[in-house]
Amino acid sequence: QGEDVLAGLSHISVNTAARNVNLYPFPSKAPNHVSEDPEEKLDSDAEYTQIQPYAGMPKEVLLLHSSKARYRVTREILFWLMVACTLALVALTVTVIALSPRCMNWWQVSPVYQVYLRSFSDSDGDGVGDLKGIQKQLDHFQYLNIKSVWVGPFYRSPMRDSGYDVEDFRAIDPLFGTMNDFEELLAKMHSVGLKLIMDFIPNHTSDRHRWFNLSRATDPHYKDYYVWSDCDGSSPRPNNWVSVFGRSAWTYDEVRGQCYLHQFLKEQPELNFRNPHVRKEMTDIIHFWLAKGVDGFRMGAVKHLLEAAHLRDEPQVDPNKAPVSWDLYHDYTISQLGLHDLLRDWRAEMEAYSREPGKYRFMVTESYDYEEVDKTMMYYGTSLVKESDFPFNFYLLDLPQNTSGLWVQHLVQLWMDNMPKGQWANWLVGNHDKPRIASSAGQTYIRVINMLLLTLPGTPTTYYGEEIGMENVNSASRDPQRSPMQWSGDMNAGFNNKTNVTWLPVHPDYRSINVEVQNSFNAVQLWRNILIELCGYKYTH
Ligand code: GLC
Repeated sequence: QGEDVLAGLSHISVNTAARNVNLYPFPSKAPNHVSEDPEEKLDSDAEYTQIQPYAGMPKEVLLLHSSKARYRVTREILFWLMVACTLALVALTVTVIALSPRCMNWWQVSPVYQVYLRSFSDSDGDGVGDLKGIQKQLDHFQYLNIKSVWVGPFYRSPMRDSGYDVEDFRAIDPLFGTMNDFEELLAKMHSVGLKLIMDFIPNHTSDRHRWFNLSRATDPHYKDYYVWSDCDGSSPRPNNWVSVFGRSAWTYDEVRGQCYLHQFLKEQPELNFRNPHVRKEMTDIIHFWLAKGVDGFRMGAVKHLLEAAHLRDEPQVDPNKAPVSWDLYHDYTISQLGLHDLLRDWRAEMEAYSREPGKYRFMVTESYDYEEVDKTMMYYGTSLVKESDFPFNFYLLDLPQNTSGLWVQHLVQLWMDNMPKGQWANWLVGNHDKPRIASSAGQTYIRVINMLLLTLPGTPTTYYGEEIGMENVNSASRDPQRSPMQWSGDMNAGFNNKTNVTWLPVHPDYRSINVEVQNSFNAVQLWRNILIELCGYKYTH
């Protein structure tokens, strides 16, 4: 390369004596002079090689010098040094990122507190808790260092299943307040850093819902919104399917002259998710509430969303015993093919609202198939397709059966060993459908169980009143664990102080077990302390 340059430069003349180098690639004698003399050419080459490099030197001369070993080798050494440094820097960055604690989302850094709306706090003295009542008690969450609150159903409802029978998915039941109250509560919660999770109840509606009325009247658009089948109004029903609450899952409707399916109460007809219009309706409802600003959904009873279209009998557990309630293998009514596609579609709709910083919309699914752990874990989705942030972990509900350490370890490992890699665990020890832990395991265990709940890896969900060890009340219905929150030793335990009415009796122990008494010591203090400690440790590790 040096020789080529030299050849190319043969016409350049340089006055070495004066170190006066012509900066132009032309001879200094005459602009167009080309030396014909070979001797003269050799001389000028030799002169070039003696010139020391300096700034402003013509490119060709520089190239000539830069090809010399001392510059070339130095250059190569510096080049490879730079490559090595860049690689080391990249490796270091990747290692630091890999070893650093992951950025936690809001639903990972605080327990979820479940408010059973009817029983939490009654602002208007009608004996039933309401939205304004929650707003009054926001300090309690702040005190406990809780950031996420799941508020039970407040849709307009005839209340045959405590609001889980929805008459209008876009309206607030007057018992709980108005849409204005809801918006105010949400805004207030957001302003103090609290997130609101609400129930989404896609499996069924109330039999008072407009869609059902139109469906039983065989309106062309609505006639397939529910699952209908021919039957003659008396036995036999279309098949042997039974509802979760017992008895046949079919009820004859006189208006339509057919039977409709209900996996829960007969007042809760099953929606037909094989109908695209039904899917669209439910997606629109998700949008409605997300646009209002709710932070997430607890999706209830999701394993019941689809039933086999063939409507064949389910196999009996004991062929000689007529099926009531759980005496069937629910091969055709639970966890049917297509269920996860529905949930993943809803998840995708939610993702569109999750993009702004701090606006992540959370999804948790309720499905009691914990004897088949693989089925539960499917609700996490896959590494490519997102579903729930977590499915509720109900394993610790079995805690009262046996409070030995080995049993606890077994229940904990059941989840941890089966949870897909990279997913987030969660724990609960009670909810509105299960007896209170203080009643089933005993008061002695309440503190240690709360401690366990709060210290296991993952998000704990706690049911209102568990922080103070509230117990079941006597009630023949499904309600023993739903009694009014015990705020103080005052009238009606501070649940309301306007009248003597409460929709369920207050537990007689409210004078000793209430928030006011326990705020200064005992269980609530324990909660607060653990949570404050944990914020500094568990949630960052
Ligand atoms: C959900 C609720 C339960 C209700 C059921 C049927 O699972 O937790 O209370 O009865 O849905 O609506």
